[in-house]
Amino acid sequence: MTKASGLYPGFISLEESLELSEGQVRQMQLDHMNEYRTKLGLEGGLTFDIKRAEGCYIWDADGNKRLDFIGCVGVYLLGHNNPFVVENVRKYLATKPLTMDPLALKPVTAAFAHNMALVTPELTRTIINGGGGAEAVEAALKLVRIAAGRKHPERKRIVSTLNSFHGKTLGAVSAGGKDVWRRWQPVISDHTYIPYGDLDAVEEEFRKGDVIAFIAETIQGEGGVVVPPEDYFPGVRKLCDEYGVYMIMDEVQAGSCRTGYVWAHQYYEGLVPDIFTFAKGISDGVLPVSGIQVKDSVYREAYGSYDSAMMHTATYQDNNISAAVALSSLQYMIEHDVAGHVRRMGKLFFEKLERVRERFPDILAEVRGRGFMIGLKFGRDGEGAGYANRVAAIMAQKHFVHTMTSTNDDTILRCYPNIATTEEDFDWFLDALTSSIREVVGAEEVLAS
Ligand SMILES: Cc1ncc(COP(=O)(O)O)c(C=O)c1O
Repeated sequence: MTKASGLYPGFISLEESLELSEGQVRQMQLDHMNEYRTKLGLEGGLTFDIKRAEGCYIWDADGNKRLDFIGCVGVYLLGHNNPFVVENVRKYLATKPLTMDPLALKPVTAAFAHNMALVTPELTRTIINGGGGAEAVEAALKLVRIAAGRKHPERKRIVSTLNSFHGKTLGAVSAGGKDVWRRWQPVISDHTYIPYGDLDAVEEEFRKGDVIAFIAETIQGEGGVVVPPEDYFPGVRKLCDEYGVYMIMDEVQAGSCRTGYVWAHQYYEGLVPDIFTFAKGISDGVLPVSGIQVKDSVYREAYGSYDSAMMHTATYQDNNISAAVALSSLQYMIEHDVAGHVRRMGKLFFEKLERVRERFPDILAEVRGRGFMIGLKFGRDGEGAGYANRVAAIMAQKHFVHTMTSTNDDTILRCYPNIATTEEDFDWFLDALTSSIREVVGAEEVLAS
């Protein structure tokens, strides 16, 4: 019994929480957390009691080894509990540091910002948060609004893309191009949504003369792993320059080596956005971390004076412990050429997936994405949602392989492996995919006959 449980009978310590049964956890989530989100996971057959995670594997309460092919939708690129990142954080905590303080100097954060400037020499200002991707998007949107407010107060609008996802805080959800996430709430006005990949639509909006910034994901993730035409982002950059509009690339999901480049926009030679966001992969799930990387000139337009110095601060902003995680992940990525590994393995894997697609041309319509950000498009003519969800459930339940459909397009099965995945693991995934498709299609045939 702990002292706390003496005062509040039933109080659970950290150690005890790790020993709770599946049923106990389920009940506590239903009683005290988001009940219907918990139910959705349980009813979809994709919620399991995971006890341990290492590399590309997770182990459930029955001791089954499972292959994690989604990694919290792109968080775990460096493998679960990457030893280098975890050990670095331990080392840092062992120094009994002052992890956060508004006025103390911040050595780890300063070093991270310095390192980032080496990797992206044309974007040399960093804001880092101990938060999620939406917080990074907020920081970017707010920065451009403040910069424009000083320079072009007549400009009001942010242009973003239909089917995009930028998070669910108020500013981020206002930028996102999916109505469903903007139900019931007053959103921030002055947002315009245009089709992703359509350069003419970009110019049409910019021509109106009141646009502050354009924001888009380098590859749309939640929207279903949508890769834009090759000339899209270079074209957007040109238009942004021509019309004096800020260009924000949201790399919360596609960044951090996920697509085979340390930062996803680096796929386009010479392309430099004014701001890009980062989160997910840079944390490797060790601690929440997110942030933005900004061109110095743009940063100064917003925060380059004493009177604006406190306009965007937060308790966890620029804290050393989140920076310790981000710095360690970045170092690991560079020292292990993670981007190169993702490009090489991704190519191999895409080739193998294409062969599976050829075997089921009526079921698997497309294999798309870049690097380790892969979307499998199921079905034709909008008929694929049923397939993708059922395939995901069978893969997890019978073959112990975990994937997930896209939140904004459930005809897309998302596969986000991590760098610990071996060729045998890829084959495990391919076998699971093939027999799960057979099972779903077989059931369909029985139903049809
Ligand atoms: C491109 C993009 N931006 C922002 C977010 C929001 O990140 P978070 O859920 O950590 O707030 C996500 C999350 O999936 C994302 O994919």
